[in-house]
Amino acid sequence: MKKARIAVIKGDGIGPEVINQGMRVIESAASRDNLSIDWVEYPHGADHYLRTGELINEETLKDIKKKCEAIYLGALGDPLVKPGVLEHGILLKIRFYFEQYVNLRPIKLLSGVETPLKGKGPKDIDFTVVRENTEDFYIGLGGRIRPGKNSTRLEVMRELYKLKFDIDIDNTGDEAAYQLGVISRKGAERVVRYSFDFASSRSLKKVTAVDKANVLTEMYSLWRAVVEEISMSYPLIEHEFNFVDAVTMWLLKKPEHYKVIVAPNMFGDIITDLGAMIQGGMGFAPGANINPDGISMFEPIHGSAPKFRGKDTANPIAAIWSGAMMMENCGHKKTAQRIVSAIESVLAEGKARTQDMGGNSSCSGMGAAICERVSEMPETDKAETGEDG
Ligand code: IPM
Ligand code: MN
Repeated sequence: MKKARIAVIKGDGIGPEVINQGMRVIESAASRDNLSIDWVEYPHGADHYLRTGELINEETLKDIKKKCEAIYLGALGDPLVKPGVLEHGILLKIRFYFEQYVNLRPIKLLSGVETPLKGKGPKDIDFTVVRENTEDFYIGLGGRIRPGKNSTRLEVMRELYKLKFDIDIDNTGDEAAYQLGVISRKGAERVVRYSFDFASSRSLKKVTAVDKANVLTEMYSLWRAVVEEISMSYPLIEHEFNFVDAVTMWLLKKPEHYKVIVAPNMFGDIITDLGAMIQGGMGFAPGANINPDGISMFEPIHGSAPKFRGKDTANPIAAIWSGAMMMENCGHKKTAQRIVSAIESVLAEGKARTQDMGGNSSCSGMGAAICERVSEMPETDKAETGEDG
């Protein structure tokens, strides 16, 4: 029996209920491949923070690094905690600590799921957003500028580089605030290269790079230059640039145009919520925070939806699908494929439908249906799917 050891942070709101469904589906798919999953659960999230004051500390991160192959995360965020605290203190902390520099977000409309885009179907909505995940306006540097003289030192400490900003501001006006964004050459190169490799490994012939180089000229002209340079190593893949405002328009008008989109962190964040809606809603949008040489984290892109906590009504598909991405990333391709096929089959059949789909299946009911499908599905040809775990 093979083993995979996975850290689980169920988190807040609907996080625990969707992750529970993911865990049961993964276990049942894995067991058919003679793989057993050893879950190592960590309590981090709003409740833990409110009880203990701890967000996530260095020791826990080291512990995960030592013990686990991957992290399975539900969602973070709670109305009792000030916005930003859990996001920075846990989610971004993990992404940065493990240098998960790719945020991979497939936007794929599955058969049996409705898109709000008139006249578009599964063949039109099938692309992947490769979102940079460590830089841009997410580095967390900025401040309030009081009237008068202000000076402060801001630092970014990364494996790739350390940046120190000594900032002296003389403000002769009223209060102001600022936020710094950073794009580094190496930071851009690694994610852009990932997007071209991703396209190349799937025989996709086009990469669209998103930016706002017409306004944020410094950061995104470096980004563009890197895209141009990296693209030279991939002569069979066409590339193009889209401004972020234009891409939101074209994603609605002509989603079939896109194959692979590579985007800086914040624009990637925004366009993937839009992507989630055209693939049927937040309940269908999986995500992966990837460090190709380290520990990656898998999470649905939806938030904690605190209103629905504990009601057993959330759609668990985004979480289950993220679990499939995790299995694939850990080298268990066949288990991953089994999960994705079960999701597709249950959706195409259309009997289990959660509230967001206009049905009345519960979260656990949808999980049970997918679990059952996983165990019923005929054995696929090993040579074809390839088990490399
Ligand atoms: C996401 C979320 C996070 C982000 C927040 C919660 C920090 O919106 O994963 O898309 O902006 O990356
Ligand atoms: Mn987001």
